[in-house]
Amino acid sequence: MSSERSAIILAAGLGTRMKSTKHKVLHELLGRTLLGHVLRSTKSLDLDRRIVVIGAAADQVTAHLEAQAPDVETVLQAEQLGTGHAVRIALEAVPDLTGTVVVACGDAPLLRPETLSRLVEAHEKAGNAATVLTAVVDDPHGLGRIVRSEDGAVLRNVEHRDAEAEELAIREINSGTYAFDVAVLREQLAKITTANDQGEEYLTDVLELTREAGRPVGAVVCEDPTEVLGCNDRAQLAELRRILRERINTDLMRSGVTIEDPATTWIDATVKVGPDVLIRPGCQLKGATAVDSGSEIGPDTTLTDTIVGADAAVVRSHADQATVGKGAKVGPYAHLRPASKLAEGSKVGAFAETKNAEIGAGAKIPHLSYIGDAAVGAGANIGCGVIVANYSGESKQRTEVGAGAFISCNSTLVAPVKVDDGAYVAAGSTITEDVAPGELAIARARQTNKQGWVAERLAGTAVDEAARRAIAERREIGE
Ligand code: UD1
Ligand code: CA
Repeated sequence: MSSERSAIILAAGLGTRMKSTKHKVLHELLGRTLLGHVLRSTKSLDLDRRIVVIGAAADQVTAHLEAQAPDVETVLQAEQLGTGHAVRIALEAVPDLTGTVVVACGDAPLLRPETLSRLVEAHEKAGNAATVLTAVVDDPHGLGRIVRSEDGAVLRNVEHRDAEAEELAIREINSGTYAFDVAVLREQLAKITTANDQGEEYLTDVLELTREAGRPVGAVVCEDPTEVLGCNDRAQLAELRRILRERINTDLMRSGVTIEDPATTWIDATVKVGPDVLIRPGCQLKGATAVDSGSEIGPDTTLTDTIVGADAAVVRSHADQATVGKGAKVGPYAHLRPASKLAEGSKVGAFAETKNAEIGAGAKIPHLSYIGDAAVGAGANIGCGVIVANYSGESKQRTEVGAGAFISCNSTLVAPVKVDDGAYVAAGSTITEDVAPGELAIARARQTNKQGWVAERLAGTAVDEAARRAIAERREIGE
């Protein structure tokens, strides 16, 4: 027997019930498309080839595959004439395929790689020609039923719409995932007919045909019936997302992550979280996000493609393509936009926004700031309300704040400009020229006080009365 292994993934049907211009298998589920999850599970099987059968919205699916899984081959099924037809077309396109072929559906994303391995290993070990993955479910409505003999041997699959009353009572269903001996599958697919309620070529008929041809047919029962759930509409998509969320959260908790409220914590399958991380309620961790050990995230924080170092804290904040260094503090209410790089021990606090900005080790931007297209040196202090005017209306310009520099409250740094190491900017300044090391820059109008102005202009008003009272009191005490 050849040891070659491959997979055929069926994804030609559009999935009309999604009511979407997007192909069903391209809908997103915690960090990957439905198809992406299936591809990920099959990848772990160490397959020689993976073939995806495409049809409806073929250009969308092809573009997705080219971007995400360039090693995958595609075969076009121009008309969707049934699952058997789809596999037949695929096998015709790869006449040299031998060994074991796994057939799976592109819209069943929860199948664990371990289950697929178990299917393939059981199939090969038993020397089966066909092995179907089944599950025992509470509600088998609409699914194919597995008909077994009295001694438990798999006889055939009957589709819901073709089933007799006693067959409808069967709760063991066909998952739509199988392992086949390629050569036998080719022979049997040549025999299938369209004599069923839908007038389609059913792949499921191969089970009975294979048995009738005297070749062994078996079944592997999937212990967790949620693994075989498919997705036909958006309500089911939400249900799959809930199940996957629980699975991801449980795995993370078992690996040493504290998740205070798993029901409101949404972590993509692609995210990495280290031990002793504390995730408070209401967080979303997405894409290529990774959080190192001992950090605290949340509550109510969204991190997308963001790297958080060890022992950092990100509280009630939003970050996209940012890097938060070891021990850094972010939030509450901070917005880290793409290419924000916070070094070790730095702080970006309440209502501060950063973009394309390197914040040096220990530097602080504690409140109400915008720092964009800028570098802030180690240990620098950015006072409350400091903003960088980085946009000329035409182009973005850079600002540099040196190590240990001190920018006092409510100053504007008009880029391009550099405030050097150890320089000082007085509160309320508008800085348009470079400040050298150790210099103080004051760039604001000088204050003038006009005596008697209120009495002259605002006589009889409440302000005037307050002024008069204060002046009289001070006279009495001889000030
Ligand atoms: C199929 C099985 C059923 C099983 C169920 C599990 C058949 C006849 N029935 O039913 O026993 O319980 O899956 O979910 O196989 N597809 C193509 N080309 C086609 C038709 C379908 O690529 O011509 C693809 C679809 O895009 C989908 C998959 O095959 O990804 C399954 O097709 P679908 O029509 O959903 O089959 P079910 O009726 O669900
Ligand atoms: Ca289906």
